[in-house]
Amino acid sequence: MTRLAGKTALITGAARGIGLAFAKTYVSEGARVAIADVDVVRAREAVAEIGEAAMAVEMNVADKQSIDAAIANTARQFGAIDILVNNAAIFTAAPLVEIDRADYDRVFNINVAGTLFTMQAVARHMIEHQVKGRIINMASQAGRRGEPLVAVYCASKAAVISLTQSAGLNLISHGINVNAIAPGVVDGEHWDGVDAFFAKHEGKAPGEKKREVAAAVPYGRMGRAEDLTGIAVFLASDEANYIVAQTYNVDGGNWMS
Ligand SMILES: NC(=O)c1ccc[n+]([C@@H]2O[C@H](COP(=O)([O-])OP(=O)(O)OC[C@H]3O[C@@H](n4cnc5c(N)ncnc54)[C@H](O)[C@@H]3O)[C@@H](O)[C@H]2O)c1
Repeated sequence: MTRLAGKTALITGAARGIGLAFAKTYVSEGARVAIADVDVVRAREAVAEIGEAAMAVEMNVADKQSIDAAIANTARQFGAIDILVNNAAIFTAAPLVEIDRADYDRVFNINVAGTLFTMQAVARHMIEHQVKGRIINMASQAGRRGEPLVAVYCASKAAVISLTQSAGLNLISHGINVNAIAPGVVDGEHWDGVDAFFAKHEGKAPGEKKREVAAAVPYGRMGRAEDLTGIAVFLASDEANYIVAQTYNVDGGNWMS
């Protein structure tokens, strides 16, 4: 199908995992996609796989100059940006009494400030180019409730849900729809790291935490990046015109709100 024909999308953190799955699906729906990531080597590998409808952009969402440069590079090659997916994020976990201030700053700079200031810069770009655009933020079930060892990451994703609400209410007056997706547990390199953390802190065998969370999902397994592509296309498409400031759980039934 070509529900995104003629659209230009910028997806942060798209060199691997969920963002890469979104990039491939957006291209298959007719969009041109900037794969923006700090890991520009993997971003280039992704482009080599996807083809000329994709471009690699080096981008650190925690750095304003890098955000501005990524927007300018994307627009120069693919035209004004119609769709932003704020997908880049990092995970961290620690018992509360061991949380390190520098680690907190690193996570909030990327997950929260990165989301906010990328939204801001792309919204300015969309307004300047009179684009009735779409912004999709990646939240998480972690933003719906706390977890004993995951205070900082959970708080960062709760902030993404809140930012989606405020930005959504503000930017719809410019015809820009802002919404978010809250995945549950999605297997991939991100969750390899989560599993390793719990192996260390809860004395679990490698792979044990993944088996536990998979068994707890009402659907009966962990999510896959491909489970999220449908809503990512829908929220970027004209079918979602009247949807504003919402966060959608796509988690196999883990959370209801
Ligand atoms: N995997 C899950 O279970 C899960 C669950 C809920 C929410 N999420 C969210 O979905 C999104 C994608 O998750 P994923 O599993 O694909 O993660 P991932 O760790 O596999 O990929 C994240 C990508 O972001 C990039 N990145 C990191 N810091 C960056 C920065 N400062 N600037 C630009 N790029 C940066 C990394 O290089 C990587 O390519 C994230 O926002 C994550 O928090 C994931």
